[in-house]
Amino acid sequence: MKVLKNYWELGSVVSDIVEHTLTLPEPKLVLPTGSTPISLYKELVNRDLDWSTTTTFNLDEYVDNTIQDQSYRYFMMENLFKHTNMYDDNIYFPGDTAVWPDLSYGTGVDLCILGIGGNGHIAFNEPGSSFDSETRMVDLTEETIKDNSRFFPTIDDVPTQAVTMGLKPIMSSKKIVLIANGKHKLNILNVAMNGEQTESVPASILQSHKNVEIYYCD
Ligand code: PGA
Repeated sequence: MKVLKNYWELGSVVSDIVEHTLTLPEPKLVLPTGSTPISLYKELVNRDLDWSTTTTFNLDEYVDNTIQDQSYRYFMMENLFKHTNMYDDNIYFPGDTAVWPDLSYGTGVDLCILGIGGNGHIAFNEPGSSFDSETRMVDLTEETIKDNSRFFPTIDDVPTQAVTMGLKPIMSSKKIVLIANGKHKLNILNVAMNGEQTESVPASILQSHKNVEIYYCD
């Protein structure tokens, strides 16, 4: 795990990795939402990179069409996509397709950037998710609903279901970068990276990936 000086350095260091990935032919990226990637997206926008051949897949999306400005598509448009030369047709969210689970969702990914939840979830693969899980609809745990309530007027407004990329397609990415910000993430990072590999801690699956980097700042 690399410990960085601050949140802005986190954004800058991970932007270097994204910038390198964007030089590949037809790069494919998996991207997260949440508080942690905001400094990354701000830095990427400042760098004014060429996204025209890039395809992105987001990790997850709520199942609730009444929350438009809290949807993860809205978050990504506002924080990144609308400031780049990405083509709309190259932007994918799980659950977009008429038929899902779409087992091809997020295949051939060069770089997957992940956050980690306080309960060890990655995307919305909550504790107990099978290490073989595919992209699918899930119920969110009470802890995740509570964590996400900071973005909504009341906890009752938080959607209770989402479509998430499964652990299996996440693990098929060529490179994974996990980002975490805040001391409250240290314990779960330690459990996930150094503890037993168990489906009770979904992020512990990353111990089996050959090309994972973890970036943390207080
Ligand atoms: P956060 O969320 O970046 O808002 O802490 C991470 C996550 O729950 O995956």
